Parts: sequence; structure tokens; C-alpha cells
Amino acid sequence: MNWRSTHAHWGLVAKTFHWLVALGIFVMAGIGLYMVGLPLGLAKLKVYLLHKALGITVLALVLLRLLWRLVDRHPRYPAGMPRWQVGAARASHALLYLLLLAVPVSGWVYNSASGFPLPWFGLVDLPAIAPVSKPLAHLALTVHKTAFWTLAALVLLHIAAALEHHVRRRDTVLTRMLPWRTARTQADCEGDPP
Ligand code: HEM
Ligand code: HEM
Repeated sequence: MNWRSTHAHWGLVAKTFHWLVALGIFVMAGIGLYMVGLPLGLAKLKVYLLHKALGITVLALVLLRLLWRLVDRHPRYPAGMPRWQVGAARASHALLYLLLLAVPVSGWVYNSASGFPLPWFGLVDLPAIAPVSKPLAHLALTVHKTAFWTLAALVLLHIAAALEHHVRRRDTVLTRMLPWRTARTQADCEGDPP
């Protein structure tokens, strides 16, 4: 499999980033929703520390993914896909990226504005990115929750769109993003000579 994407398929690096970030978001959503209901105590503190350290890791992955996207190419959309749908796909992907940044950054701002430390798995202490301030902490938490639920809704739409391509249109949009598909099988799907 190629490292880089081509006009027909996603490369190994783009696929790895996509699925690592997707997994990261699902795990983070689970931890976030679970931890807020825990009773005050050491266990809650430990889960909060895990949520914050993993969240920073997801943020780093999203930033690396965006950097990679600048130098990698984007596979073509299937021929015959209406222009408005291509526009909708591009806009929704841009919004996904924006929310993938907004959720962890607002979490970091909330943490900083609340005056809490931010150790990354006990290895480094990350700096505060905002001054200690109650109103700012309140605002950042509202942004964190709202951006998260908007992301969750958009991810559902995103999955529905991917399945629609596969089941109804029977094109390669979903299969070319699957980790176990190689360039060869995708080319075969598109009817290229063997
Ligand atoms: C990367 C993706 C992230 C996701 C998907 C995520 C998701 C969530 C969710 C679902 C909640 C529960 C919200 C609720 O009360 O309904 C939450 C809470 C929280 N998140 Fe995140 N989070 C992320 C990153 C971060 C980061 C990087 C930090 C800090 C550095 C952070 C700090 C917090 C804190 C402190 C809370 C608890 C707020 C409270 O006690 O009410 N999160 N997060
Ligand atoms: C939290 C979960 C997910 C997030 C945040 C996410 C985010 C994204 C983003 C930002 C892109 C645009 C890639 C680019 O143009 O650079 C993308 C592409 C894609 N995603 Fe996801 N994704 C998630 C889960 C899924 C799942 C579960 C599926 C499959 C059912 C899926 C299928 C696809 C496909 C097929 C593409 C390629 C679309 C194309 O060729 O234009 N994604 N995803």
C-alpha cells in the first residue's frame, strides 16, 4: 500500500490518521461522559487526568493530520457526483476539522482558566494557555460541551453519508478509506485492467 494518497485511493498515512483520530474521539467521548458522573474522590481525579492527557494526544494527532493533508493529495470524488454534494462533503469535512480542534482546545482553556495543572501521562507538565478566570472557565466549558455534541451529530451524518455511498451508490468512497483495503483491490473495483 502507498504511503501517500493518489487520485484513486487514500494512502497509508491518511488512513492511519483518520482511524486513530476516530478511535480517539470515540474513546474520549466515553471517558468524558462517564467521568462527570463519578463521585468526588481519587478515582474521579485519575480519570480526569487520563481524559486530559489523552485529549492532548488526540489534539496532537489532529494537528499532524492537518499538516500531512497540506502535502498529501485528496482522492477524486466519484465521476457523476453532483457538484452540490461535492461542496457539502468538502464543507462538512472542514467543519469536522474545526470541531476536532475546538473540542480539545476549549478543554485546555477550561483547564487553564480553572487553574488546574495539566500533566501529560506524568512525563511533562503542559503550560496554561489562558489566565485563571471564572467567567472564562465557564465560557470554555460551554464551548467544550457544545462543540462536542455538534461533533457527535456531524460524525453520525458523516457515517450515514459513507454508508450511503457504499450501499446505494456502490462507489469506492467508503472502501478506499477502509484500513484493510489495498490500492490493488480499489483499482479492481474501478474496473482498471489487472
Ligand atoms: C479530544 C477530544 C475530547 C473530547 C471528545 C472530550 C469530550 C468531553 C466530554 C463528552 C465531556 C463531558 C461533558 C459533559 O459534562 O457533558 C468532557 C468533559 C471535560 N473535558 Fe473533555 N474532551 C476532549 C478533550 C479534552 C481536553 C484536551 C481537556 C483538557 C486538557 C478536557 C477537559 C475536560 C474537563 C476538565 C471536563 C469536565 C468538565 C466538568 O467537570 O464538567 N477535554 N469532555
Ligand atoms: C469520530 C469519528 C470520525 C471523524 C472525526 C471523521 C473525520 C473525517 C474527516 C475530517 C474526513 C475528511 C478527510 C479529508 O478530506 O482530509 C473523513 C473522511 C472520511 N471518513 Fe471519517 N471520520 C470519523 C469516522 C468515520 C467512520 C466511522 C467512517 C465509516 C463508516 C468514516 C468514513 C470516512 C470516509 C469514507 C471518508 C473519505 C471521504 C472522501 O473520500 O472524501 N469516518 N473523516
